[in-house]
Amino acid sequence: MSVYTEIKRITTHVLSEMKLQGEKISMLTAYDYSMASIIDKAGIDIILVGDSASNVMAGYETTLPITLDQMIYHGSSVVRAVNRALVVVDMPFGTYQGNSKQALSSAIRIMKETSADAVKMEGGQEIIESVKRILSAGIPVMGHLGLTPQSIHKFGTYTVRAKEKQEADKLIEDAIALQDAGCFAIVLEKIPACLAEKVAKKLYIPVIGIGAGGGVDGQVLVIHDMLGINQEFSPRFLRRYHNLYSEMTGAVQAYINDVKGGDFPNEKEQY
Ligand code: KIV
Repeated sequence: MSVYTEIKRITTHVLSEMKLQGEKISMLTAYDYSMASIIDKAGIDIILVGDSASNVMAGYETTLPITLDQMIYHGSSVVRAVNRALVVVDMPFGTYQGNSKQALSSAIRIMKETSADAVKMEGGQEIIESVKRILSAGIPVMGHLGLTPQSIHKFGTYTVRAKEKQEADKLIEDAIALQDAGCFAIVLEKIPACLAEKVAKKLYIPVIGIGAGGGVDGQVLVIHDMLGINQEFSPRFLRRYHNLYSEMTGAVQAYINDVKGGDFPNEKEQY
């Protein structure tokens, strides 16, 4: 058993300690109280209130439509459930790009209204002014490079990023810039494993991967994907730990049959 299991509260300091000690960091998304409570009690290190809520909770095709108010609703629901994990809330599209003053006020709203521990932002040098301004207010920031879903309309596809040298070099520069600005960790999404490993070795802050191979300091998955609630989404990097889609369908069908057949409720299930 890891010594970190005993730790009562994960902080950004504990995460950098984990990197130093070679302890892998576990991270999952959650968007509501009940799911966050299960994940936290199971011992996860970081819970990300991802803007993937736009996809898995609200049914939008991209992460762009979700609003700051909606992220705050999800974030505060998650925080109420969590005792141990570090809770990070994604800053949604349009609340920080190109305007550091607006970025700071969005981050302050997230921290005040959710009581989360940190915010996450997509992008490198182009958002560095916003990152620095948020950090100067004492708000911890997690970076996010590689496949950045908020820029889907710029790239046009969700394919692997930074396969070419030029993009890989830029990603390394961006990662260093985020670290130098003061980010406490970085997510690398869907990039070649050898590049992700190189970045993790270069940086002293933890690098968490999704579709970025095993050479990084930790892993993150979307909870709906790893539990098999989503049927349609099956990228190569996804490991499904359950098939909740068929389990839930079976349970709902059994309930329908019981109601229609008059089997539910029985005598013990009534007053
Ligand atoms: O929104 C999200 O779920 C994310 C993870 C995929 C890292 O940003």
